[in-house]
Amino acid sequence: MEIILKPIGIIISPFNEKEQTPIQSSRSQAIGRIEVAPEFSDGLQDIEGFSHIILLYVFHCAAKDTLQVRPFLDAQLHGVFSTRYPNRPNPIGLSVVRLLARWENTLEIAGIDVLDGTPLLDIKPYIPEFDVYEASRIGWYASRRQA
Ligand SMILES: C[S@@+](CC[C@H](N)C(=O)[O-])C[C@H]1O[C@@H](n2cnc3c(N)ncnc32)[C@H](O)[C@@H]1O
Repeated sequence: MEIILKPIGIIISPFNEKEQTPIQSSRSQAIGRIEVAPEFSDGLQDIEGFSHIILLYVFHCAAKDTLQVRPFLDAQLHGVFSTRYPNRPNPIGLSVVRLLARWENTLEIAGIDVLDGTPLLDIKPYIPEFDVYEASRIGWYASRRQA
């Protein structure tokens, strides 16, 4: 099955180089914008009510995918599906960012961890009751987590 998706907008980021881009939104204070295409503007109704939103996007500058990768935070190889590495069979990324303001089709956001011009596939509200779990295992990351 082939799936064709149409971006709903674009992420405007201060970062143009992968190496200078934060590796996770939770570690980023960077401010940027989302420009939603006018045809999707009705879909933004009520978004201002949420302090955080979930972004789904395409890693459009990803290199060729491999199934085993060395993630940013470890020197060991891991299966790509055990990591957040951008080079993956379907190069889809997910970031939870802070929603600072909205002007019509523009959303000002904080916590950017993507390159400028990243195509945005979807926006969902972040709702702690749905999205926060107490995890009992965090795999290889357990030995790498910051104090
Ligand atoms: C480790 S990924 C994590 C992104 C997201 N929070 C996730 O978990 O899916 C973040 C890194 O991907 C790379 N990156 C960001 N935007 C990209 C893009 N549009 N194309 C390719 N690589 C990108 C940068 O090196 C950045 O530091």
